Amino acid sequence: MIASNHQKYDHFLVVDEVHSTNDLLRSLVDAKQVDFPMGYVVSAQYQTAGRGQIGNSWVSEKGKNLLFSILLYPQIEIKEQFLISKIVSLSVVSILKEWLPQEAANFSIKWPNDIYYNHKKIAGILIENLLLGDEIQNSIVGIGLNVEQVDFPSNLPNPVSLRQINDQLSYDKDLMIEQIRDKVVFLLQHSDELFFRNQLNTAYLSVLYKIHEYSFFSDKSGVFRAQITDVLPDGRLMLETEDGEHRFYYFKEVSFLPHCVEDENLSL
Ligand code: BTN
Repeated sequence: MIASNHQKYDHFLVVDEVHSTNDLLRSLVDAKQVDFPMGYVVSAQYQTAGRGQIGNSWVSEKGKNLLFSILLYPQIEIKEQFLISKIVSLSVVSILKEWLPQEAANFSIKWPNDIYYNHKKIAGILIENLLLGDEIQNSIVGIGLNVEQVDFPSNLPNPVSLRQINDQLSYDKDLMIEQIRDKVVFLLQHSDELFFRNQLNTAYLSVLYKIHEYSFFSDKSGVFRAQITDVLPDGRLMLETEDGEHRFYYFKEVSFLPHCVEDENLSL
């Protein structure tokens, strides 16, 4: 699976090329030959079969972006798994903000865990849990973050990179990975405290893309206008329609149509 030379640090495996860092880390952990520590990272310059959510692929130019996976032992029940999404997306936003001047740091989380800069996607997260009974035995958190790439395939709807946001700064990619990893591990280790969980929730909602703004959505019954009002602990999105009706959706049950405008052809 590892196609070319690789370096191994204590908590860090860096490879030139791999199918997918999530798959490599999963196979290393499942082989059980070593007890990999919490926060162990596999990163790559290039993925030949990078994976995104809902069976999509994740394509990234060689050596330009962050492509890495973090191993976590969350010690939480399956029903609480959205906590991991919150922690990881907040960590990415928080580290991104540190790298840009305040006025340019307009990052948000598009539910459930896409990272946006204004209306464009700068990072994606793919969390894969190994379950044991009702508990999560371990999680592999894959993160793809656009740093230096400026040309993107035309089929990607709205990509953006740090270089496109600010072309004056230099971005230390290894340092960024370490900072994100450390933040994720820190937040996870404190997340059994109720007060802390409430703070995470407040922080998540405060940076949620389009919260409390009317936008168009579509579900199995068609297109409708609503505003996001909350995200429940189980990860369901809570929408309020213009009539005050509350609707709840798991991921994939609803699509966001942020650029949709009033159109008589829409089946509302
Ligand atoms: C998404 O669809 O938004 C999630 C994209 C996740 C991509 C990252 S890149 C590193 C890790 N390895 C993968 O194969 N996928 C994740």
